Parts: sequence; C-alpha cells; structure tokens
Amino acid sequence: MRIGVVGTGYVGLVTGTCFADSGNTVTCLDINADKIARLNRGEIPIYEPGLEELVGRNAAAGRLRFTTDTATAIADAEVVFLAVGTPPAADGSADLSALWKVVDAIAPHLHPRAVVVTKSTVPVGTCAGIEHRLKERTGRDCRVASNPEFLKEGAAIEDFQKPDRVVVGVRSPDVADVLRRLYLPFLRTENPFLAMSPESSEMTKYVANALLATKISFINEVANLCERMAADIDDVRRGIGHDSRIGFAFLFPGVGYGGSCFPKDVQALASMARDKGIVPRVLTAVHETNLAQKKVLGDKIAAHFSGVLHGRKVAVWGLAFKPRTDDVRDAPAIDLIERLLADGAAVTVFDPEAMANVRAIYGDRLTYVDKAMDALDGADCLAIVTEWGDFRHPDFDEMARRMKTRVIFDGRNLYAPADMKARGFTYQSIGKQPILAG
Ligand SMILES: NC(=O)c1ccc[n+]([C@@H]2O[C@H](COP(=O)([O-])OP(=O)(O)OC[C@H]3O[C@@H](n4cnc5c(N)ncnc54)[C@H](O)[C@@H]3O)[C@@H](O)[C@H]2O)c1
Repeated sequence: MRIGVVGTGYVGLVTGTCFADSGNTVTCLDINADKIARLNRGEIPIYEPGLEELVGRNAAAGRLRFTTDTATAIADAEVVFLAVGTPPAADGSADLSALWKVVDAIAPHLHPRAVVVTKSTVPVGTCAGIEHRLKERTGRDCRVASNPEFLKEGAAIEDFQKPDRVVVGVRSPDVADVLRRLYLPFLRTENPFLAMSPESSEMTKYVANALLATKISFINEVANLCERMAADIDDVRRGIGHDSRIGFAFLFPGVGYGGSCFPKDVQALASMARDKGIVPRVLTAVHETNLAQKKVLGDKIAAHFSGVLHGRKVAVWGLAFKPRTDDVRDAPAIDLIERLLADGAAVTVFDPEAMANVRAIYGDRLTYVDKAMDALDGADCLAIVTEWGDFRHPDFDEMARRMKTRVIFDGRNLYAPADMKARGFTYQSIGKQPILAG
C-alpha cells in the first residue's frame, strides 16, 4: 500500500518505518524542516533501539521517504496516519491544535478513497470530529478510523512489529479490511485484531494508560507506607504478585511515572469525565499521588542534609523518563533537578542517551559528564532516577573512592540494602528501611 504518515516523532517515525519494512511505500511528513533534513541525511532525531538500521535499510530500498511537502506525502496515499503530538492544555484536556491544522492541510490533497487514521492519542469523539471537518473541507464523506498506538519507547519497534493486539475504530467493514491487511504481517502469531467503534477505540487507549498509571501510583503509595511500617515493599510485592488475580507487571515502586503519555493521558481522561459530569476520583488521586511521588527523592536528600543543600554536590544518574530512550518529557529527573537547583545544590548529571535533551533545557546550570563514574568525583551523594542497565552493577569500591561521602538515594531500588550496608554506604531506596552508615 501507499501510506502517508504525518508527524515523525516517536510514534510517527516508528509507524512509518515498520510499515515500510513490511513492503509498503511510505512517505513521512513533518513541519519541522530540520528533522526532515536530518532524516534525509540518514540521521535519526530520536534515540530508539534498532530504529536507525531499519530507517536506513528501508530508505535505501526506496520504500521510506521524508518530506515537508503535504501534497507529496498525501496525494497518492491510500492510508494517511496522523501521529502529531496531543499535549496537555492548561486545564489538563488534550490540546488538539496540531491535529486540526493537519486535518485542514491534508484535506485538499486527499484521494477520495483514502482512509485517514488517527494514531495520536485523542479524546473520545475526535474521529467523529475529523469526519465532520473533512466533509466541510472536501464536500464529501471521507473514510476516517481510529488506531491507537500502544508501543513503549525503548522497545517501540518490537512492540510495533509484535503487538499484543491491534485496536481499530471503524464505521464500516471495508475500512476494517484495509487496516487488517496492513497489519497482517504483524499478527502472524494470532494476536488479535480488534475492530470496534471509533469511540470505543479512542477510549481504549486512555483506559489502558490510566490503568497502568493507577498501578504505579498505587504501589508507590503503599511503598511509602511500607517505609513507615517497618515493612519491605519488595517482599510485599512478591507476596501479592503470585496471586494470579494480581500479577507482577507494573507494580515496581519508584519516583513516579513520567514521559509524554501517562501524565497527560490520565489528566485528559479526567477532563473528559468532568465534561460529562462524572467526578474522576480515582484518576485525580492517581495524578496527585504521582506529583507527590516525584518529590520523594528530593525530600529524602533534603532531610539527610538537614534541609541545607546549598554548597552540596549532588550526582544524578539517569535523566530519561525510563531506560532505553532519550525522552525527558515530564521525567522525574527534571523535577528532582529543579528542586536541587532551587535549594542551591551543585548538580552533576549523567545519562547514556538523554544528555543532549537535558542540556537543551538547563545549559550551563548543570555539570555534564560522559561517564557515570565521573559524576561522583567529590559528590556528597548520588541520586539514581532512571533504571538504566548500566547502573545495576557498578564498581562500588570505585564509587566509594570517588564520592566525598558514601550516600546513595536510589529511586529505582537497584541494589540490595544488605550489600550496601556491608559496603559502608548510607542507602535510601523506595519502600524499604534506610541503611544509615556510621
Ligand atoms: N511517545 C509514545 O511513546 C507514544 C505512544 C503511544 C501513543 N502516543 C501518542 O502519539 C502521538 C504522538 O506522540 P509522539 O511522542 O510521537 O510525539 P512527538 O512530539 O515526538 O512527535 C510529533 C511530531 O509531529 C510533528 N508535527 C506537529 N505539527 C505538525 C503538522 N502540522 N504537520 C506535520 N507534522 C507536525 C512535530 O514536528 C513532531 O515531529 C501523541 O498523541 C501521543 O500521545 C505516543
């Protein structure tokens, strides 16, 4: 098939590349001319494992092209995916301004039989709104579908190529057939292709993210409680996880969820509920619990230094909102850095992939190092915010040598407290009893 993809961010670029890799001809469109120029030079503007090789291979085969010209991307396309950002507006609702601009821009170029598909996460009723707007702009009924994306940054290609399920929201079986054919190469292991109404499909995406976020806020709240009850969250987690009704997934305590999806999608669903006269009690609690959890590590650090961080040197390992991505949108590390800087600490940071994105925000207000260990020289403490594999088995002797004092605040529970005690570290993690050396 000939496919147009509008928006070449984390979702659009992966979508376009994976469809090209299954033999389709894909043209990706973006308004960001710099991004398109880089893609045309074979540079990948984001870090996503495996993406560079896949883009290179399909671009070389002539199946994957990048452009800023709407007509080039859209005029020939049988299917047009919309994958632009839908960030939160001030009141928490989804800001659809980019999406409506795209709908207006593509309308004059759309083939009459083209199917327009929203991959962006959009509020319930947006598909219907696009149908309406396209009819106004083109004077005819256009085929519009919803196809929410469930990929995880850091494992995006694997998730796209081997989805647990594909959800599509359609008004007619022929549109479902177009999308089923497109996804068939990715569903060879009989994972389901679920066709439903656009409204149910749009809702599905929000409900999936909101439930995952709920699990995280729940385990974080009980982790905080464990600390005050002489309990250990890992033991409790094991104790509950073997119950087949509960399981282990998404029940790891930490410093709160971040990224471009969970925070905004929880708020957008709450906003939809309020619009319909339903008080979103659970969603509000999930969001507020998360905001509070993002402060926990900073509070522990401040308490350790008796509230005085001025003149302290704090090393931060991990800046991306999760491992295997360079994405720092709404990342807990940003909240921590803000707090440390506001309190007058000198902050040295390291992340395997997200340094450029953090430098773009903070410039020379932080010290940046190329190796994790280099952040520790003379540090009063280390804060671990992202659970990169690189941090799991460090040389603790070297850490002890390089730090001014052996103090670690671990927001991801990477190390065994008993080990840290034996090594003479002060070690505070989440939902466990603190190890206080000396
Ligand atoms: N990032 C994820 O892991 C993920 C997962 C599932 C769903 N989603 C959803 O997918 C959507 C896109 O997310 P993302 O993380 O890829 O966003 P992103 O910000 O990385 O990318 C969006 C892209 O759209 C481009 N764009 C904006 N306006 C445009 C216009 N008028 N014409 C052409 N291009 C335009 C931007 O330049 C940018 O490159 C969002 O709705 C998000 O909620 C994201």
